[in-house]
Parts: sequence; C-alpha cells; structure tokens
Amino acid sequence: MTANLDAIASLCKRRGFIYHSSEIYGGMPGFWDYGPLGCELKRNVKDAWWQFMVRGRDDVAGLDATIIMHPRIWKASGHLDTFADPMTMCKDCKKLMRADQLESILAEQKKPPKPRNPPGTGMCPYCGGELTEPKPFNLMFKTVVGPVDDPSNVAYLRPETAQAIFAQFLNVHDTSRKQVPFGIAQEGKSFRNEVTPRNFIFRSREFEQMELEFFIRPDEAVEILFGRVVHLSDGPDVHGDPQPEWGWDVWHMYWVEQRKKFLREIGLPEEHFIEYWQKPDELAHYARACVDIEYDFPFGRQELEGIAARSDFDLSQHQKFSGKSMAVFDEQLKLAARKMDDAAKEAFAAKTAAEWEKRGKDAGEARAFCAELFEGRFVPHVIEPSAGVDRLMLALLCQAYDEETLDDGKGGKDVRTVLRFSPKVAPVKVAVFPLVKNDPAVMSIARDIFGKLRRKVNAFWDVSGQIGRRYRRQDEAGTPWCVTVDKQTPEDGTFTVRERDSMAQERMTYEAFLAKMYAALEF
Ligand code: GLY
Repeated sequence: MTANLDAIASLCKRRGFIYHSSEIYGGMPGFWDYGPLGCELKRNVKDAWWQFMVRGRDDVAGLDATIIMHPRIWKASGHLDTFADPMTMCKDCKKLMRADQLESILAEQKKPPKPRNPPGTGMCPYCGGELTEPKPFNLMFKTVVGPVDDPSNVAYLRPETAQAIFAQFLNVHDTSRKQVPFGIAQEGKSFRNEVTPRNFIFRSREFEQMELEFFIRPDEAVEILFGRVVHLSDGPDVHGDPQPEWGWDVWHMYWVEQRKKFLREIGLPEEHFIEYWQKPDELAHYARACVDIEYDFPFGRQELEGIAARSDFDLSQHQKFSGKSMAVFDEQLKLAARKMDDAAKEAFAAKTAAEWEKRGKDAGEARAFCAELFEGRFVPHVIEPSAGVDRLMLALLCQAYDEETLDDGKGGKDVRTVLRFSPKVAPVKVAVFPLVKNDPAVMSIARDIFGKLRRKVNAFWDVSGQIGRRYRRQDEAGTPWCVTVDKQTPEDGTFTVRERDSMAQERMTYEAFLAKMYAALEF
C-alpha cells in the first residue's frame, strides 16, 4: 500500500467511485454516494459475499427485510436502552464530539483544513475550550410512521440488519426446510447517527452490512445427541466440513476461518489483516467470544468485521418481548433423550445447573432448559459474522491502490496509478479497444467482441486517444484485462490481451480469453 487516504479519496472522486452525497448543496457529513465505478465495485463485493456465504453452501438461506420494523424489536435487542456513544460539547465553540475520540479529533485538526466545511451537526473545528460532561447519545435515527407526528408513531431506521433475521427466524426455519445448524444471511442498509462520522466511507451514517446469523444447537443438546462435545482443545479441523459434534467454540473458530478465507479470495492478503480476540472484560454481556478482523487502514488499525458468539441472547430476548416461542423441535434430540433413564437425566440436569451457576446463571433456569431438551426443544444459539460493505470496499481500495514508477523510455520517470483489484471485485472486468478508428473491418469485429463480452461481464468500450492512454485509464479503474483488436484480428481471430498488473501483452483467441477470465472469476 503506497497511498494516503487523501490520494485514494481524490482518485475515487476523479474516476467516479465515490462522491459526497448532495455535493451541489455542500454535502452531508457521513453520507456518500457511489458513482459508476463505485456502484459496480459495491455490487461485486456484495455478490461475492452472497455467493460465498449463501449460494455456495447447503446450510444458509437468505432474507431481505424492511429497514423500518416494529419499534419493540429495538427494545428487545437492547438498542433503545444501550446503543449510545458518549457525547460531549465544547462550551465555547459548541462543537459536538464523541468523548472517547477527543485525542484523534485534535490530531486530525492539526492537518491542513479541508476546502469547505459541509453543513451539519457540529462541523466547526474544536477550539480546545471546556467540555460538558459526556452524555449518552442514542445512535438510532428516529422517524414517524403514518400522518400523525405523535410519540406513539415513532419508529427507527434499523441500526443493524441482524435483528430482522432474529425476528424472522421462525418463518425462515419453517419455510426453508432447514434444520439447526443452519444460517440466515442478509445484506442491506443500516443507519447510525454517528456523532462524528469520519475517515471517508469508514464510518458513515448510512451504510450497508452483510450479516450472517448461524444458528447452532446448545452444547448440552450436542452432548445428549452424541455423548460428547468437540471443543477447540480437542484440535478439530476448523478448515474442513462442519461436524455435528462441534461445540460453540469450534463453530465460532470455523466462521473466523471462513471469513478470513473470503477476505483472501477477494484480494486482501492475510498479512494485512489482524485477528483480535476481545478480552473477557471487552465482551458484550451476552457474548461468549468475539473476534474482530482488523485491517491496517492509512488512518490506523480498525475493525473490518466482527465474528461474535452471541449465545441464545437474541432469540431469547425476542421470545420474551414478543411472547412467541423461538424454540425449535429436534426429533433426533428427543429420540436420543428417550434412551436416557431418569437417573441419567437427573445427573445431566444437576451437572448443567452447576455449570450454569459457575457462569453466573440461574440453576432453576438450567433445570427448566434441560427439561425442554429432553423433549427435543431448545432455543438455538448463534454465531454472527458481521461485515460492513463500505469499510470492506475502503480496505479493498487501500489494498489495490498503487503508484508505480516506470521508465518513460526517454530517460525520465513516469508514475502509473493503478488499482490492483482482484478480478472478482474489479468494477470493469475487461475493456475492448479497436486499435484504430478508421478501419471498418477492425471496428466491426471489435464491436462484435465487445457485444459478446458485455453479455457475460461488465465490459467497457473505448475508442478515444492513443492506446497507451486508454490502458492507463483502465489501470486507474482497476480493469484486469484490456483487449485490443487490430488488423490481424479479422485474419486469424486473435487479439492482444494486456494484463493490468504486469502490463504483459499476449495474443489469444476469444475462447482462450474467456477461459482465462472465467478461471480468475470463479470462487
Ligand atoms: N450486528 C452487529 C453489528 O451490527 O455490529
């Protein structure tokens, strides 16, 4: 990585990846629009995730839920009461800031000022004056549903896609004919009213998430079914196919490894991301473990995505608040429990109660849970790999950005700006150029090749300027291959394929190029 964030943001604006939202009116802090290349990149990132997490597996189903949902969902999830950042205000200049970000805000202000300060909450520079006591500020955007602006009609733009998955768990379970362990995946917009949105598209107020809630049996059910629970200390193969005897910790590690595999496959080398295991005192109260995958952005090491083991917290909360049972029935479990006599059941319940007590949970609840298990019923536990589309795009842009110094052939230097995207996410897969405009046979065959390619992938047609300039424009867009059609093409059906990274050129047929391209696009 050779770029700073300003160089990347400037390329993104110049080449149509990312613009300020509402730019002609001065912009809106924390809101960004994706231009022609940006929206293709975004689509490719989301499609890659969907292929890897949903279509490429037997055990995951999809969901596309609404952004505005019943407000009680946010009471049950805890967002209404606790989804807040500490906010402070300067008594002199009135700037609003996150109290836990003061240091980095001051450091950022030392940099040269931006050309303009878009209007919005607290966008003046902090003067260094006395601050108010930090107060929790809820990050959910409020709106009103229906024509009456009354507190009883208040609803919220979802701050995460995950809760819709929990709220629709029973419907998907019943209609997809999938049994636990299985997952439900969703991609879509989420909204957080960040006090200080920052670092380009890293922390925006409107953003997109890709979340999987993977539902598993509680370890106690696994034990009844198989007589044992495989834990990480048993050394299971977490890179291989999932096994029914796995405990929650193995499932959690399996998903950490799957997510790392995905990131590698779309072009983030493993040496550039870091696995951070949250310490026990950093974990949310319901989480049993949480791993952040962090990336070294130009503005520092930041979380790219999180993989959390959330126990049965979410479904249990929705069970409590909706009054609907979130338990599933597991025939195999009931049959296995039937083989246990009363003494074995009592011993199992006593052991479970003691283990729950050690974790600060109620022994009576443990016994009630066991009684349900013996009937084949339980509320599933969940492992949640949760990724942000926009911050992943930013990581891909930072990773891909390169300024390569070349010999200009006249004794001088020439700097080539190139986005070295993986072909899997590159916005344009191939550009087609007729070498000359004034040869009808060349133009016609080039147009024909372009027509065939654009029916398969996002292809780009360019006839303007010298061929070298056309290559450079595609380098800045991150296009992996350029196809140049010349006088030889009508004669023998071959054209020149120029590789973005090596700049090497090779003649090949249309079929040979197609095979090469498909091999690079496949997951
Ligand atoms: N569902 C986890 C998150 O939105 O961060």
